[in-house]
Amino acid sequence: MPFENAVLLHRPTQSSQWWRSAVIYQIYPRSYASAGVGTQPGVGDLPGITQRLDHIAELGADAIWLSPFYVSPQKDGGYDVSNYRDVDPLFGTLADADALLTKAKELGLKVIVDLVPNHTSDQHQWFQDALAAGIGSAERERYIFRPGTGENGELPPNDWESIFGSIAWTRVCDRADAPGSAWENDPSWYLHLFDSSQPDLNWEHPEVREEFHDILRFWLSRGVAGFRVDVAHGLVKDPTLPNWQFHWKMVDGGSASASDVPPPPMWNLEGVHEIYREWRKVLDEFDTERILVAEAWVSPERGIAKYVRADEMNQSFNFDFLCCEWEPTALREVISKSLAAMDQVGAPTTWVLSNHDVVRAASRMGLSKTGKGPNGIRSFEEQPNQPLALRRAKAAHALMLALPGSAYIYQGEELGLPEHTMLPDSVRQDPAFFRTQQAEAGRDGCRVPLPWEANAPGFGFSPTGDTWLPQPLFWEDLAIDRQLNDPNSHLSWYRHMLQLRKRLQLAEGGLLDVTGFADLAGFGLAYVNQSSYGEVVVATTFTEPTVISSKWQVLFSSADLITTSGGLEVPADTTVWLK
Ligand code: GLC
Repeated sequence: MPFENAVLLHRPTQSSQWWRSAVIYQIYPRSYASAGVGTQPGVGDLPGITQRLDHIAELGADAIWLSPFYVSPQKDGGYDVSNYRDVDPLFGTLADADALLTKAKELGLKVIVDLVPNHTSDQHQWFQDALAAGIGSAERERYIFRPGTGENGELPPNDWESIFGSIAWTRVCDRADAPGSAWENDPSWYLHLFDSSQPDLNWEHPEVREEFHDILRFWLSRGVAGFRVDVAHGLVKDPTLPNWQFHWKMVDGGSASASDVPPPPMWNLEGVHEIYREWRKVLDEFDTERILVAEAWVSPERGIAKYVRADEMNQSFNFDFLCCEWEPTALREVISKSLAAMDQVGAPTTWVLSNHDVVRAASRMGLSKTGKGPNGIRSFEEQPNQPLALRRAKAAHALMLALPGSAYIYQGEELGLPEHTMLPDSVRQDPAFFRTQQAEAGRDGCRVPLPWEANAPGFGFSPTGDTWLPQPLFWEDLAIDRQLNDPNSHLSWYRHMLQLRKRLQLAEGGLLDVTGFADLAGFGLAYVNQSSYGEVVVATTFTEPTVISSKWQVLFSSADLITTSGGLEVPADTTVWLK
């Protein structure tokens, strides 16, 4: 193709390692499907997932990532684990987990599970022992207990704030379970970067390290393909626990790299890497196919690539991409910088647009300010322009899935599911809603149970028709059975895209930046993906439509193109794959 002086961003990869090019589908177990075996009607369960796993295989994904299903008081949707080696009765049994693994294997899907090492639940035996054993005990060393400041220790040890709002410390004697307990008068404080029910572990403690090695082995022996590591950048804290004065929203990609904010004493400390090097060795005891995926809200400049050096993890979510505004200059920079940073360490870029912590892309992208978006949307707040959001989300997915590397999709993205922005406050469960004194909606709106059958109660989510969060009525049209029967549905479009991505081997391709070149100048972004299949142009329009000449063959498009006398018109906010 005549693109002289095009900028080479990335060379093709030749590797048999599955995770370098995989599409991985995130399941939020509470909300995928319920077989009615769990202890609460309307909450999804593991047998529900097993029954409906063919949906993901037929979609064309290579693997699933399951958010936590371990024993948990569910104060933070299961990210508060009280027993890492068993399944919560809410979701079924350990035998159900094994059955899920077996079914996944039959379908050719790998299974990644979630590991939550930064904190346990306050109901975990270790924390209960720590409370009971009292000040100065060995049991307390596994967590971060400190005396207070102020004249009588009535102030917290430092000024750190919880990600979910309010201070990151709770005084032992202020706990609801204190009256009448052994710790009734205990004035010490414990650290929790999240909810007070999620005490942070002390990763300087050898027992903490050993325990997690053992948990890794427990799940690896059952056959999981790896772990998504929760808050991977948070395990190690500056041991002096200094004041910091800033409230860094962990999920604030933008401000995360702001140069006027000094390095935080609790995020992304060098010491975390030693932990993952040890974990790598544990994984290698099994086979080389097992992987670690970092949830590290760190931008490339601050060292995201360090997490995926050859002797550490395998993938690290590209949150800069997720947080980027829908605007060509910014996107172009993120794409080139992330490929360059990952190439330096020989790791794939791991694209992502949505997960269970952010407003769904198919809504977020229709707000007046695109990018990471707010922490949930309430009925009286700015409502997304839905058609615009969906159109942009389609363009963004068609861009993401044509770029080299692996990609994660969040359940419902294949359906074009929007955020639920009308949830009544009375049903909200996210601790962020409560800890911010209801100033933030929180994440419930992206966690609503999936619609499977248009004409069934609860859209077929559960046998009783119950759903733990209400579904919007208009989801009837988005139900999976209805979309499957419609060749023009979002689901049919998405399936086709994943098939084509595989056939064209785009994930293994090299990438040239040809933005502004030749007759593609009307696009905001233009790339050439060079794979063993050949060269495919991937180009995206933003605010302005453009016309392409008839020499181009359109392989795929995120929107209908319009035939004009001068050629084919590609409307605004559209991605095309051309040959
Ligand atoms: C991660 C999870 C999020 C959870 C938090 C605390 O960010 O994705 O859902 O609330 O960690 O575990």
